[in-house]
Amino acid sequence: MSIVKDPSLAQVGRQKIEWVKDFMPTLTQIGKELKEKHAFSGFKIGMSIHMEAKTAYLATILRDAGAEIYATGCNPLSTQDDVAAGLATEEDIEVYAIHGIDEKNYWSHIHTVLDHHPDLIIDDGGDLVKAYLGLPKSDRYPIIGGCEETTTGIHRLKQLEKQGILPFPMVDINDANCKHLFDNRYGTGQSVWDAIMHTTNVLVAGKTVTVAGYGWCGRGVAMRAKGLGAKVIITEIDPVKALEAIMDGYSVMPMSKAAAISDFIVTVTSCEDVITENDYLRMKDNIFLANAGHFNVEINLEHLKDIAFSVEQRRENITGYKLADGRTINVLAEGRIVNLASGNGHPAEIMDMSFSLQALGLNYLLGHRYTLEHKVHDIPKNLDDYVAWTKLRAMGAHIDIPTKAQRSYLGLD
Ligand code: NAI
Repeated sequence: MSIVKDPSLAQVGRQKIEWVKDFMPTLTQIGKELKEKHAFSGFKIGMSIHMEAKTAYLATILRDAGAEIYATGCNPLSTQDDVAAGLATEEDIEVYAIHGIDEKNYWSHIHTVLDHHPDLIIDDGGDLVKAYLGLPKSDRYPIIGGCEETTTGIHRLKQLEKQGILPFPMVDINDANCKHLFDNRYGTGQSVWDAIMHTTNVLVAGKTVTVAGYGWCGRGVAMRAKGLGAKVIITEIDPVKALEAIMDGYSVMPMSKAAAISDFIVTVTSCEDVITENDYLRMKDNIFLANAGHFNVEINLEHLKDIAFSVEQRRENITGYKLADGRTINVLAEGRIVNLASGNGHPAEIMDMSFSLQALGLNYLLGHRYTLEHKVHDIPKNLDDYVAWTKLRAMGAHIDIPTKAQRSYLGLD
């Protein structure tokens, strides 16, 4: 039985799911091929993923290819209750997801997915795998494997692999070209600013924006801030990324300096404590802090609560922390992944590629289920390229095909 906040929201949720279909032609095409092959017939798939329209569409694609689906969120604030309700009305899909649920119920929903003994999983951030490892050994039924969506999840899985305790093979979707080059960069770049602007309704042009982390997501967030007319500062811990940021035209400095001159700070590092007490003490009045990294550990809110004189909900998804000297520090979406907790996530055209890779990744796992070691596996290049070709075709774009002589000159297969 599904657990959703309000089943009467289903109609609005179904409309949202219908809407994104038009912008996800690659997934639709790959879904058709998997359906023709009954690729997942007889298999159960457990999903822990941001519960919004694009993921809901992925769930229906996998269901149409034969799977039974058990789906929950991967972040208490990213669940859209109408989409959860809409998805729950679909046959063979059970949904356990409520926006804003507390920690205890969040984990209880993850465990409910595992209670159904999925054969395959889709994880976003690694919480399904974490919960599975927390089960008593006697309760750990075999899972064929799973796909991991994001950078933070891959970091966690690689640590488990290093310790020799990864319980089944996992396919790394994040590091496929058709994922991080587009989703992390252009998807995060657009949707983070979309969320910050609609949440705050303030001007970005002429302001100073600090982006912490110049990885794939940070590049996108910085690029779009620049496009909106902001002066952009990057903070980094990696000297190469810092150099790259400088040559891309940004200022680079430590957070302690950037904090004092910024109007907005966006963290997107996958690291904890990127903004801490000493930074808060230097900040300008009415600064906006947002996190776009997977977990809410980048902005240390405990430190902020400790030094705050009062705390006030100023607007939906904006908490104002007033300091004793009268300055206010505005935190968006409780420091949780801002583009999903206070926005609609990435554009559908971007998730078209990420979720095509998810569907192909699960199919790959099934096809290689007796041979894959309990490690983190790259998605094979031919599948990554297949997504790129299918997407290009859907966009009506064409590229040159090398001649036989060119192929031989370049040493291509
Ligand atoms: P990445 O590994 O490409 O980049 C992270 C960058 O942060 C690296 O350059 C690293 O040197 C830097 N960094 C680490 N600690 C730092 C610190 N204390 N201060 C400043 N810089 C620091 O990772 P990617 O793909 O950019 O992902 C970043 C985070 O965003 C992850 O948590 C990932 O899961 C999440 N993510 C969020 C999305 C969203 O929709 N908001 C979409 C995709 C990923």
